[in-house]
Amino acid sequence: MDPARAKRLLQQHLRTDELLGVATVPIDLDALAITPTPTSTSKPTPKPSPERSEGPDQTRLHKPTASTPTPRLTAAPPPVRLDPADPKPDALRKLREALGQDQRVLDKLMPGTQLVFGEGDPDAEIMFIGEGAGEDEARTGRPFVGRAGQLLDNMIKAMGLEREQVYITNCVHFRPPGNRTPTPDEIDLGWPYMIGQVQVVQPQAIVALGGTSAKALLNTSTGITRLRGRWHTFDAVQNQQGEPFPLMPTFHPAFLLRSYTRDNRAKVWADLVEVLKKLGKTPPKR
Ligand code: URA
Repeated sequence: MDPARAKRLLQQHLRTDELLGVATVPIDLDALAITPTPTSTSKPTPKPSPERSEGPDQTRLHKPTASTPTPRLTAAPPPVRLDPADPKPDALRKLREALGQDQRVLDKLMPGTQLVFGEGDPDAEIMFIGEGAGEDEARTGRPFVGRAGQLLDNMIKAMGLEREQVYITNCVHFRPPGNRTPTPDEIDLGWPYMIGQVQVVQPQAIVALGGTSAKALLNTSTGITRLRGRWHTFDAVQNQQGEPFPLMPTFHPAFLLRSYTRDNRAKVWADLVEVLKKLGKTPPKR
């Protein structure tokens, strides 16, 4: 085929995908037998973006913009009746079972992957909310168990806590195909289960890990770099006192792994110190 026509067709195809919400295309350079050769005209490798937490193997077609629809806060309430008299472990089990029977969610599961519900102390004071399961999480069915999860464990330890003392979950409870950023529709699918977990656990502070999670939870298109470092409120549901949940956004551990600078580490630590202070705890010296 004429290369110009092939290029035009490919562009049309990608544009249609983009309109359908496909944000990334996995490119297997080995399969294409293309070896990228640095040339004087080749673009410099882009710096890791704090908006994007995962996958060096992914090529972004577009970054979320102000026009990217944010998740609907009106998405369905938890699909199970959450009786405040239910012991928290029972309520969480009910939510997990409902997730496991939600056909719209099950339809999203890629072969060989599992649903990834939240885990941790049902009475946790702090709830960490990431964007969606990665490869290790979808294989094991547990949130944040891969490299980013190990760094999260270390962050929790640095706060003077153990992983078992906090609650960890995601906006999306399955692995988006190709490890791409979850689409707003995928976030909508996870929304009832995510807010259900917030309602049951009643954390004193929520930490939104990364831009995707922070934007979804705060229903904003503002980037993580501007959101982090100050308190916001998660008001899709209220706590038992009828107040919104305090929410601190911070960089995603996967971003930190890829951009492990003193400055980024200091910023994340400063955010975590704010969380400890909110709970009236003295931050360990570092
Ligand atoms: N990244 C996330 O956002 N969540 C996980 O559970 C793992 C990696």
